[in-house]
Amino acid sequence: MDVLLDGKKLAESMQSELAERVAARLKAGKTPPGLATVLVGSDPASQVYVRTKRRTCEKLGMTSTHYDLPPTVSQSELLALIAKLNADSSVHGILVQLPLPSHIEESAVIRAIDPRKDVDAFHPENLGLLAAGHPRFKPCTPAGVIELLVRNDIDPAGQDVVIVGRSNIVGKPLALLLAQKWPGGNATVTIAHTRTRDLAAHTRRADIVIAAAGQAGCITADMVKAGAVVVDVGTNRGPDGKLVGDVDFAGVAPKVRAISPVPGGVGPMTITMLMFNTLLAAG
Ligand code: GUN
Repeated sequence: MDVLLDGKKLAESMQSELAERVAARLKAGKTPPGLATVLVGSDPASQVYVRTKRRTCEKLGMTSTHYDLPPTVSQSELLALIAKLNADSSVHGILVQLPLPSHIEESAVIRAIDPRKDVDAFHPENLGLLAAGHPRFKPCTPAGVIELLVRNDIDPAGQDVVIVGRSNIVGKPLALLLAQKWPGGNATVTIAHTRTRDLAAHTRRADIVIAAAGQAGCITADMVKAGAVVVDVGTNRGPDGKLVGDVDFAGVAPKVRAISPVPGGVGPMTITMLMFNTLLAAG
């Protein structure tokens, strides 16, 4: 492996630039960008993600207000909170951590968020703008993957990219970003998934493999070509509770040109793009 796609280090340098932009904004007499985070229930992984997002806000000089709701909260109570946050001018971004309990309809909650405050870019209006090629916000994890590539001098243009996973949060929007005619795009994109026939045949011909399947160890050394680039979006918990990706790092790393680790790869980039979107939402 020639290049470790070190998201932690890159995120630190991008975040210090964002902190300077926030400081300049305050100096100009404007209010700090404000992010409201909403967590329903007590899933330990979601708690960690939300806490990290809030801490990063504070580190960058942004404000974060948090709403911890019990797992039994009704959909109408959650929608009422979102309506309150939509109307609050000190809140520029609203993040409802997913997944939500099964009695709450996720798409109804996403649709209730004011699209101008939808810093996750999950609202259908924002997805539509993205698909049409003029996004208001770029979705955080997909945008983070592209920054991680481009800022390591890996241009997806003209490359065969295979994305493993078709989720609304990662696979689908990432395919849109990578295929668009703009900097960081112009790739030839394949979306592979659980119904793909002979997954390895697809990944083996890819210049760039992006693993977003949510299955530990599902990308093995025999599935990637020598000299390829591998980005691991997986966040799985191992039997010991440790965070592991979708890629068998020890097996794949010696064979490829560049690879991102888990943790310390895409995760910190996702958070950085969320901070970028919150600053953008503040105007
Ligand atoms: N759950 C997993 N990833 C995300 C994300 O990027 N945003 C939100 N809101 N929930 C998530």
